[in-house]
Amino acid sequence: MNTENQLQDNMNTGETFSITVIPGDGIGPEVTQQSVNVLNAIAQKFGHQFNYQYCLMGAVAIDQTGNPLPDETIEACLNSDAILFGAIGHPKYDNDPTAKVRPEQGLLKLRKALQLFSNIRPITTYPSLHHLSPLKQKQLEDVDFVIYRELTGGIYFGEKKTNEDQTWASDGCEYTKEEIERIAHQAFQSAMQRRKKLTLVDKANVLETSRLWRKVVKDIAPQYPEVAVDFLFVDNAAMQIILNPKQFDVILTENLFGDIISDEASVISGSLGLLPSASVGVATALFEPIHGSYPQAAGKDIANPLGSILSTAMLLDYLKLPKEAKLVRDAAQWTIENMFVTKDIDPINFYFTSTVGELICEYVQGRVAGVFNQENVELRKSTII
Ligand code: IPM
Ligand code: MN
Repeated sequence: MNTENQLQDNMNTGETFSITVIPGDGIGPEVTQQSVNVLNAIAQKFGHQFNYQYCLMGAVAIDQTGNPLPDETIEACLNSDAILFGAIGHPKYDNDPTAKVRPEQGLLKLRKALQLFSNIRPITTYPSLHHLSPLKQKQLEDVDFVIYRELTGGIYFGEKKTNEDQTWASDGCEYTKEEIERIAHQAFQSAMQRRKKLTLVDKANVLETSRLWRKVVKDIAPQYPEVAVDFLFVDNAAMQIILNPKQFDVILTENLFGDIISDEASVISGSLGLLPSASVGVATALFEPIHGSYPQAAGKDIANPLGSILSTAMLLDYLKLPKEAKLVRDAAQWTIENMFVTKDIDPINFYFTSTVGELICEYVQGRVAGVFNQENVELRKSTII
């Protein structure tokens, strides 16, 4: 980019944003660090300012405060423009069903506190990574869909009961018309911007809540006459996502079904490490990769930072900075196309988390095209011999 354009960019914009950063557990801190670096590169190029407030949530918060979600974290989130979150979870809690305090409680409480009712998970495929997908090439071409998962209702938040001698347990599942309507409108609006197809995934042949979802979606549909609506039972949907994923455009579903099918869908692209998500609702929106805390990789500089960096692109869109978001996506795509990728994608010739992050920052700052020095990048590669 020439100096004149650069000057113009700096003069046209120059906004200030406050970002709450919650690095969380496991690989969360190291992937989030790369996203902060990318935001700083964007700030420098476009003349914006991002002010960060770092907060605790998850196992790290339990260790330091006894509470998976300290009040100061909720307070900071409510007072910021957007939230960048890493990952949550620690093996010491996973294998202990009696643990009263668990890292995941922090995330669930934050979703509820901020009323983040809509979790948006786009599924994209990259031709250079088709070989990593368990699906065949012909099923992968043109796969591009987005899952709208309801995030603050259903069985996750219903009444939980157990009897005293622990021989019986129950989780209630409830939804109201209003809870379904608000996310359904978001999903329809997204479909209008895309290929105008919406699939409701439910279990209406069995569940009362699913029958309510169907009714509410059918009632709303006439407000979006251009959108073709269809309905799939979740067991069939789980199969269709693998058999013929390109049939989907926007999938709308409730909390638990969305949790399951979005992990299933994530394998299509070749690595769980690539996938971003946004959780939006009433208060400040939150952006996080869909992968977990991957404790085996923590601190090794091998985790894929793209899930977090692509979540940062969604964050930039949310802050109404589409040019900046596109640049981050282009940079991520460029690393994938050139196989500047982490160990999950290329276990032999891989680059470190921090190197992939640095390359993306260099691309964002326009220091790659033209002056790009392949040898210099090769030096940063790790090769197992
Ligand atoms: C997710 C996670 C969470 C969920 C866990 C960590 C509570 O799996 O964001 O998908 O089940 O919602
Ligand atoms: Mn999940």
